[in-house]
Amino acid sequence: MNSDVKKAADLIQAGEVVAFPTETVYGLGADVFNDAAIQKIYEAKGRPSSNPLIVHIAEISDLSLLTEEVGEEEQKLIAAFWPGPLTLVFQKKETVSPLVTGGLNTVAVRMPAHPLALELIKTAGRPIAAPSANLSGKPSATHHSHVQNYFGKSIFCLEGGATQHGLESTVLQVKNGVPHIYRLGSITPEDIEGILGVKPVLETKSEHSPGTHFKHYAPETQLEILEPTELINRVNAVTQEQLGILASSEILSQLPSTLPRFDLGSQSDLLTIGSHIYSGLITLDALKFDKILVQSFPEQGLGLAIMDRLRRAAGEI
Ligand code: TXA
Ligand code: MG
Repeated sequence: MNSDVKKAADLIQAGEVVAFPTETVYGLGADVFNDAAIQKIYEAKGRPSSNPLIVHIAEISDLSLLTEEVGEEEQKLIAAFWPGPLTLVFQKKETVSPLVTGGLNTVAVRMPAHPLALELIKTAGRPIAAPSANLSGKPSATHHSHVQNYFGKSIFCLEGGATQHGLESTVLQVKNGVPHIYRLGSITPEDIEGILGVKPVLETKSEHSPGTHFKHYAPETQLEILEPTELINRVNAVTQEQLGILASSEILSQLPSTLPRFDLGSQSDLLTIGSHIYSGLITLDALKFDKILVQSFPEQGLGLAIMDRLRRAAGEI
């Protein structure tokens, strides 16, 4: 076994917090059944304790530790998307601490599709509760270097390089046979409808989605979202502002090459664009421009989740 996985698993068993990669973003994990350890997550992040955590499991059978009710629809979604970037909300068992669920009687669970995450959970021998491994309100970490910049050496990080998706998981609860999406992610509303044959209700701003009450994913630098043509016009206008540009290769190729930029990749490949959003925000933010301009993307499929994160980062929602 990878000796770092063993070290991380030992720390989890000892009630400590460790960071680990998933296919979406890095997580900041602790033993789900150890309240003192869970408390350390909230402290490390500066996270309000009313914002519940996601519990990560490595085998379907672990679900029975957390909930007694897995309905037919959830079973279909699990068969289709686990391991993967879909978090399902279940009625929680009494044994799941309210500290993990932010006082709710439901618990959010997912099985990450990352070999290091799965090995860590199995070796620790228990589900791992983990929010994203960033300081509360800041962009999520999509590379172990981001985790180290946020937390320094105080938290052990299992290093897995860049994450594949780079956007957090889709969060969903099935109520009376109808899927309700609380957070958009790489599993799209169309993907869910394809499995259940029912259109999901989008409740990404509702009281059912505690995480959305809080300021999220935001860089220090002001961020403005512009349609591609508007962005090009703005850059060509005379201005004293120091601008950083976050855009696709196609748009960047139409801008002066001297302009500070972060290339999100080809706009024909939204998975790649999504995977670069947070590293783009983190990189440009560190350069302290007056403003970051980011290109908008069509709001369909994965574009929905990308625009959701950009709007939150820009403070629009
Ligand atoms: O991709 C991900 O989901 C990453 C990786 C590490 O797995 N985790 C992540 O966790 O993004 P976090 O804590 O940053 O976001 C958890 C989201 C929040 O929006 C929270 O409100 C929602 O999940 N959530 C957690 N428990 C819930 C519950 N019982 N009911 C509704 N929403 C819940
Ligand atoms: Mg988060």
